[in-house]
Amino acid sequence: MYTTKISGVAHYVPDNIVTNNDLSKTIDTNDEWITERTGIKERRFAGPNDSTSSMGTRAAERAIERAGIDKSEIDFIIFATLSPDYYFPGPGVLVQEQLGLKEVGALDVRNQCSGFVYGLSVADQFIKTGMYKTILLIGSELHSGGLDMTTRGRGVSVIFGDGAGAVVLKRAEDGEEGVLSTHLHSEGKHAEELALIAPNTKRWVPTIMQNKDPDDISYFPYMNGNFVFKHAVVRFSEVIMEALQTNNATISDIDLLIPHQANLRISQFIQNKLQMRDDQVYNNIMRYGNTTAASIPIAMSEAWEEGRIKSGDLICLAAFGSGFTWASALLKW
Ligand code: ACO
Repeated sequence: MYTTKISGVAHYVPDNIVTNNDLSKTIDTNDEWITERTGIKERRFAGPNDSTSSMGTRAAERAIERAGIDKSEIDFIIFATLSPDYYFPGPGVLVQEQLGLKEVGALDVRNQCSGFVYGLSVADQFIKTGMYKTILLIGSELHSGGLDMTTRGRGVSVIFGDGAGAVVLKRAEDGEEGVLSTHLHSEGKHAEELALIAPNTKRWVPTIMQNKDPDDISYFPYMNGNFVFKHAVVRFSEVIMEALQTNNATISDIDLLIPHQANLRISQFIQNKLQMRDDQVYNNIMRYGNTTAASIPIAMSEAWEEGRIKSGDLICLAAFGSGFTWASALLKW
């Protein structure tokens, strides 16, 4: 069995910074409410030339450069998102075209906030078994165009932002360490507590348009905020401990926990519960909001740029989100 190593990480976020005060010009909200409840101060919204795939491609180009490989070495693409360019096909194939790669396989992952860790787990299995040597894994989201930017949608819309992150995963050299384990979970009975319901196979676009119901909000994301919060803090903690126990490690062994940037309050709750020091937990939701599948690779990229991830560090990734799904990964950098 081979080992999977992260050999390059990078991110791309649109230039357009949208502050809480900017949002309060069109939505009945304010900086104090958003900061207190979520920790978010600003987020990025995509410009007219950005798409989920193009942001992913830009992050990928930087990750490939940082990995020091030629793009022709990429054997496979995995793309995690809940906001694809098209309903179908998924954005993985668009990245294959935009990067000008040979005709490699492209897999799309639909696990929302857990999508990046699910994608990492899939990539790890392909590399471990020897099927592929070099895999490009992307998490990218363009939420801004699909949010209810009126006061009606304020409980959800103020939380999300746009952006992308990417990693190049490689087969490690003999004796090198990398991904130690990954852990994936789901509980579909809560599917509708955090979901975007339409269009779907029972309510296609023509039906929605025919009904012309101004109160139909089924094509906007819905979140039962309190319910999500309560489940998130439990599942995050469980899945972090699962990763540690599998590897006979303890909380104090973690050099950096990179949680999915759902809400600063969730991260702080986990940090307190697990009695972790500030320097053991990475948060950047203040600057980007919740970027769903992109949040972990954006955070990983910034942490690496800031020198908070060094060779040999024990890194824990953990995510929870719509599905519900939750997941973790423990890796040696
Ligand atoms: N600005 C001002 N007031 C608002 C806003 C807003 N943006 N949104 C809601 N309110 C109001 C509500 O209308 C309500 O007013 P009322 O009391 O007069 O009815 C009041 O604030 C409280 O609303 P709640 O929804 O109960 O607010 P809550 O304190 O639960 O905070 C939040 C909402 C931040 C979403 C919280 O439930 C939460 O943190 N949930 C966790 C979910 C989360 O973070 N999800 C992230 C995405 S999912 C993921 O990545 C896992």
